[in-house]
Amino acid sequence: MFVVIRAMFVIGTRPEAIRCARMLRLMEEDPEFDLTILNTGQHYDANMMSDFLRELQVPMPGIDLKVGSGDPALQVAAILEGVSRELELGTFDVVCVFGDTNSTLGAALAAAKTRTPLVHIEAGGRSYDMDMPEEINRRMTDHISGLLLAVCETPASFLRKENVLGKIEIVGDPQHDVYMASIPNVDVQKRQEGLVTIHREENADNPQRMEEIFEALRAVASERAIEWVFPVHPRTKANLPKDTTGIRLVEPLAYEPLLEQMFASQVCVTDSGGLVKEAMWARVPCITARDRSEWVETVSQGANVLAPAGSDMKSIIMNQMDASDSIDFSNPYGDGDNSKRTVDAIRKWMSSGESKNWREEKLVY
Ligand code: UD1
Repeated sequence: MFVVIRAMFVIGTRPEAIRCARMLRLMEEDPEFDLTILNTGQHYDANMMSDFLRELQVPMPGIDLKVGSGDPALQVAAILEGVSRELELGTFDVVCVFGDTNSTLGAALAAAKTRTPLVHIEAGGRSYDMDMPEEINRRMTDHISGLLLAVCETPASFLRKENVLGKIEIVGDPQHDVYMASIPNVDVQKRQEGLVTIHREENADNPQRMEEIFEALRAVASERAIEWVFPVHPRTKANLPKDTTGIRLVEPLAYEPLLEQMFASQVCVTDSGGLVKEAMWARVPCITARDRSEWVETVSQGANVLAPAGSDMKSIIMNQMDASDSIDFSNPYGDGDNSKRTVDAIRKWMSSGESKNWREEKLVY
């Protein structure tokens, strides 16, 4: 006889909808969980959220906060308030949050303040750059979580170094399962194309940096006779440079068409953390338009090279394209059933009673 675990799983943005898809289906089917999905509504355009829920057969959210966009502090505050109101009803045993978005932090604070056990999935990612909104979100969340599920040893080692209070476990990357289930099942032929996505605040909100990136893309398009396909995130629309020669701007793609585009591409330029891993899994050389990456293995294996502001991005892209035969594309983020391992870890933690006593901190002088 088991006790049913009443779990609230919080999503709010496109990456959460995609990467959590398999975990959510597993929890929904599992008789030991009574799952409620709470959608914060941080992302609200159909092609940023509901289309993905349908495509990846995620159970429909039972609670929709509809917080929308706005000042990040107010957005976190609205999520904190909305999730707290639900938790104060006393009908949830555990809150699960994922990654590093404002939805993650808002919900994590609500769990901490209502003393509801909190699980952080994809814990321990670090850029060690507190100018990044995501770095603030993940650090704060990690330090108030009771169970921290890491994708591999590197994030787990960051968590140990930071002396987090909660229990750390390595479960692999749930995104990999979703990727494996969605890769094209036909042999996609390479085309004279590259894939680009840019949406990080540091790039998308800086017109000069966007011009710098486009200048490099135009030059590579011309020298290598490729066309860039650029699904444009809503945030990026405001500062798109006018000269798009060699760059085809398209609306955000559904998940399978995006992977098909990845497989057809010679190269990928991005500032997304998710796409960096998908490029590596698809064996497509990748360039990250940032000065660091949380996914350190992608860089150390050569699958991903950094192109910070002010760098010679055109040469970096072309060198990476030329290096493709010597890249180590092996997957360090857990092959196999990572989503199942994640769900099992949550169940074990909740059933063992550990979720009740993790706060017992020892004062060390
Ligand atoms: C958020 C996450 C980021 C993640 C990204 C994936 C934070 C701090 N950042 O960034 O880590 O990689 O999602 O997409 O949580 N907008 C729309 N429609 C939408 C959503 C957004 O038009 O459905 C526009 C709005 O103008 C909004 C802007 O995009 O103000 C930024 O959206 P926001 O959710 O604040 O951050 P993202 O840049 O999407």
